[in-house]
Amino acid sequence: MTAKVRRIRKAVLPVAGLGTRFLPATKAMPKEMLNVVDRPVIQHVVDEARAAGIEHFVFVTGRNKGVIEDHFDISFELNATLEARGNKAAELKELNDDLLAAGQTSFTRQQSPLGLGHAVWCAREIVGDEPFALLLPDMLHHGATPCLADMMDAYNEHGGNHIAVSPVPDNMTHKYGIVGVADATAKVSQITGMVEKPPQGTAPSNLHITGRYILQPEIFDLLENQERGAGGEIQLTDSMVTMADDPTQPFYAVRFDGEIYDCGSKLGFLTANIAYALDRDDLAADLKAEIAKLI
Ligand code: G1P
Repeated sequence: MTAKVRRIRKAVLPVAGLGTRFLPATKAMPKEMLNVVDRPVIQHVVDEARAAGIEHFVFVTGRNKGVIEDHFDISFELNATLEARGNKAAELKELNDDLLAAGQTSFTRQQSPLGLGHAVWCAREIVGDEPFALLLPDMLHHGATPCLADMMDAYNEHGGNHIAVSPVPDNMTHKYGIVGVADATAKVSQITGMVEKPPQGTAPSNLHITGRYILQPEIFDLLENQERGAGGEIQLTDSMVTMADDPTQPFYAVRFDGEIYDCGSKLGFLTANIAYALDRDDLAADLKAEIAKLI
């Protein structure tokens, strides 16, 4: 049965993180602007959200992140130069397709690095009283269908709150938020428990929270009073656990069947570059030949 649900129009993208795992590359440049093939990581994530019908993008930024705002703005100088050179219609179209339109973006600052829960809370006034999507830009989801679009389908059917999950090896569960589900084989299943970074050997399953969420706005009230949790940070997962106690706030896990690359880590970032390039007709054959030479 299809529940009556409120449309998801807005996405929150927390981009205030310092990128310490990627120093010195991220000393002066935001980690979200690191390049995967020929687009910054953040562009790939915005494209995923657009493919799911998102209309407004709320960036929770910090110091040194101004270039993200510039990236989504028109560059008149670049457009004029390309036009003057002639025959650049394809490049111009590509540049303009990547833009977000006037009024489609909001930027707010997380002034102190107090954790993901705090970053999301910083978006409360801009999101207002409506359900929203949340995408953690470090995590590139690479699959047959965009992850958030799959989640929208599940949301339109069930309503409530949705979290994308995927299995990790048992010795990795302590690095993530982990959920327990009613049916571990189903594409969409009701969540029975959640815990942020459980000590090794205590996880309720091996399904990790991959960084894509659809949340009801009541989460903001809980985040406002959330005490610090794992790692001394204000954790989103802790507020979700409290919210799930309310029977009017069901939580569903949506399994993502593609690959996930953590672009905040060196290995994840390098692998993402290869995987995304191998998808490209203009690069795949030559890249394969080069890789074969290297290894
Ligand atoms: C955050 C979330 C965690 C999730 C992870 C995915 O953790 O708190 O539940 O599994 O993102 O990347 P962080 O990576 O910020 O430590």
